[in-house]
Amino acid sequence: MLLMIKVKNLIKSYGRDENRTEILHGISVSIPKKSFVSILGTSGSGKTTILNCIAGIEDVDSGEILYGETNIAEFSKEERDSEESI
Ligand SMILES: Nc1ncnc2c1ncn2[C@@H]1O[C@H](COP(=O)(O)OP(=O)(O)OP(=O)(O)O)[C@@H](O)[C@H]1O
Ligand SMILES: [Mg+2]
Repeated sequence: MLLMIKVKNLIKSYGRDENRTEILHGISVSIPKKSFVSILGTSGSGKTTILNCIAGIEDVDSGEILYGETNIAEFSKEERDSEESI
């Protein structure tokens, strides 16, 4: 199966120290090429958060977001903002 995006063990939190709130607790998902995906969940469950992480709008705590061989989870903010990174 040709994969477009592969997410492995993605952890994302907002806030720091005693204000840290973990939103994504280790998500793994594989999205094949030429597929359509729906994300379902209650309000506040993290749907927009995971989309922002996959889109490179938000940084992540840990895990991998693979576009082919390229793991954007380890990109700096500048790399995430650059059209030339992928
Ligand atoms: N920038 C932020 N700073 C701090 N907490 C945030 C931030 N963005 C989202 N959150 C929190 O992260 C959690 C997940 O929010 P998110 O917006 O991803 O949920 P959602 O599933 O998209 O909800 P909805 O269905 O209402 O759009 C919520 O508890 C929210 O308050
Ligand atoms: Mg949302």
